[in-house]
Amino acid sequence: MDRKVTVIGAGNVGATAAQRLGEKELCDVVLIDVIEGVPQGKALDLSEAAPIEKHDAHLTGSNGYEDSAGSDIVIITAGVPRKPGMSRDDLISINAGIVKSVTENVVRYSPDCILIIVSNPLDAMCHVAFETSGFSKRRVMGMAGVLDSARFRTFIARELDVSVESTNAFVLGGHGDTMVPLPRYSTVGGIPITELLSRERIDAIVDRTRTGGAEIVSLLKTGSAYYAPASAAVEMAESILKDKKKILPCAAYLEGEYGINGLFVGVPVKLGRNGIEKVIQIALTDEEQAALNASADAVRGLVDLLKKLN
Ligand SMILES: NC(=O)c1ccc[n+]([C@@H]2O[C@H](COP(=O)([O-])OP(=O)(O)OC[C@H]3O[C@@H](n4cnc5c(N)ncnc54)[C@H](O)[C@@H]3O)[C@@H](O)[C@H]2O)c1
Repeated sequence: MDRKVTVIGAGNVGATAAQRLGEKELCDVVLIDVIEGVPQGKALDLSEAAPIEKHDAHLTGSNGYEDSAGSDIVIITAGVPRKPGMSRDDLISINAGIVKSVTENVVRYSPDCILIIVSNPLDAMCHVAFETSGFSKRRVMGMAGVLDSARFRTFIARELDVSVESTNAFVLGGHGDTMVPLPRYSTVGGIPITELLSRERIDAIVDRTRTGGAEIVSLLKTGSAYYAPASAAVEMAESILKDKKKILPCAAYLEGEYGINGLFVGVPVKLGRNGIEKVIQIALTDEEQAALNASADAVRGLVDLLKKLN
């Protein structure tokens, strides 16, 4: 393949993302982890599935960064996931150190790459990667909105008994309980769900979306969601690798957009070869703007906490 993506963290999200990248034949994949043997073993296992899955992507595993040199995209999933009873924010001190050291290594070998951050707490980890890398704001983004809107879409499709493919949904804000799903911009076959569902049912779906991650943590008990998160990160990578210019909700560094300054917050962006090519601004009602401001305040609180930890 003439494209290369490195995935840092060969755990649940990282290995699943590597699998999807390979099976979609989007690029060669380098899987990196601190645990000896694990990235090598998973990459070999995935490679041995390739003849059956019919793809020619090369997958390699490593404990060092040399193999990652010259990556087009690096997806950072390194860190610890939450356990039942934990919020994403509880992970901040441990994951901040991990994301900082990982970013330093990534930048050394792939100074021109685009960074997609997955590690939690997502928006705060984007700040760590942005500040550590010194990259432009176009080349650092976080995966959360694609996952949150996929969850929203799943619940809408189930509620109306329609194909998930006919659904579209928008979620703004930070990746946490303050995220802001936008029902009037969420559609089925182009029809806003506000025309198809009662306020009560929409509120129930919105609540389930907000707590979608915790629902899975409480079922799994030993980790957090990874199939859908990996799919979401790969959708972002695909839009960049193929220069598709999809409009996707991603954590992006805002400088005045939506009245928010100097913070990573989830907003719709155009994703192409250059990374974030545009932040799409949509008109919000007073209620929606207030919810987005509250979500941004929660992110700011975490960024302030990061400064205290340093
Ligand atoms: N943004 C989102 O929507 C979203 C969704 C799901 C998970 N997550 C987050 O993604 C992260 C990974 O989740 P997971 O389920 O894959 O966890 P996991 O425990 O299965 O995998 C994490 C991997 O990171 C590795 N790691 C730790 N420190 C490292 C380092 N310094 N360098 C390289 N690798 C290192 C671990 O050895 C482990 O294999 C967690 O922080 C989780 O909260 C985010």
